Amino acid sequence: MQIAKTLDVLRTQVEKLRPGGESIALVPTMGALHEGHLTLLRRARETCDHVIASIFVNPTQFGPNEDLDAYPRQLVEDAAMLQREGCALLWAPGVEVMYPDGFVTNISVSGVSEGLCGASRPGHFDGVATVVCKLFNQVRPSHAFFGEKDFQQLAVIRAMARDLDLTMPHVHSIIGVPTVREADGLAMSSRNRYLSQEHRAAAATLPREMQEAIARIEDGQDTAPTLAALEDALLGAGFSQVDYAVLADAGSLAPLERLAGSPARLLVAARIGGTRLIDNMAVEQNR
Ligand code: PAF
Repeated sequence: MQIAKTLDVLRTQVEKLRPGGESIALVPTMGALHEGHLTLLRRARETCDHVIASIFVNPTQFGPNEDLDAYPRQLVEDAAMLQREGCALLWAPGVEVMYPDGFVTNISVSGVSEGLCGASRPGHFDGVATVVCKLFNQVRPSHAFFGEKDFQQLAVIRAMARDLDLTMPHVHSIIGVPTVREADGLAMSSRNRYLSQEHRAAAATLPREMQEAIARIEDGQDTAPTLAALEDALLGAGFSQVDYAVLADAGSLAPLERLAGSPARLLVAARIGGTRLIDNMAVEQNR
């Protein structure tokens, strides 16, 4: 596996991978790779001729009081994992490569980025949209893979790519890959490693209570009291704050008071022991 740290090396290596129009998968990450990322890589390998992964802890998507400095960085270990998964090229730029002096552009996607995590993390999705647009332009992949765990992020990226016509010249397919979970149901995340043993055990309440709430909503029970009960259960289990627990349209992410015939999603963000966990699950119309 080659490792590119400058744009010149990246371009040379990418061109070597597609002399005859081979399909190229991009798996953008911030590193600290876990089984969830490896699942994206495996899907990418099954789908495309070559896989390129990027590792960049993007400062513009972290708020001033968030965990940018503490975010786990383990490039050597990550590179070994990528190599084992058959990744052809690792794009690992420094901040000075992605945001050189004088960088002044910001991509802001309205609508889908505004509620949910957008409300509690102002500017976060601007940072994501801007860096992913840059990654798409730098690598020009035919396919890009993202985890459905970050469901709102995926919606923002799809809207950005559509509106900026990025899907036409290169990124033909933006593929969402279902969330990978630990044995007790907790969605895999690089941030799970912040959890103490006690909080890690309590964190499994999140997917369990979400499934409980989904069963009730699918059985026709009222959404508002069901979501209130979900919040109470999380607070009772040791979560300190619930940023949101929302039933939303799976496409627009607009909140729903009840199931309305179109695909729906339950999305939750809650804090435990200083760590913010997010999760989302499909809600079916009829059980
Ligand atoms: O999901 C992530 O790891 C990041 O938000 C992404 C898409 C790599 C952009 O920095």
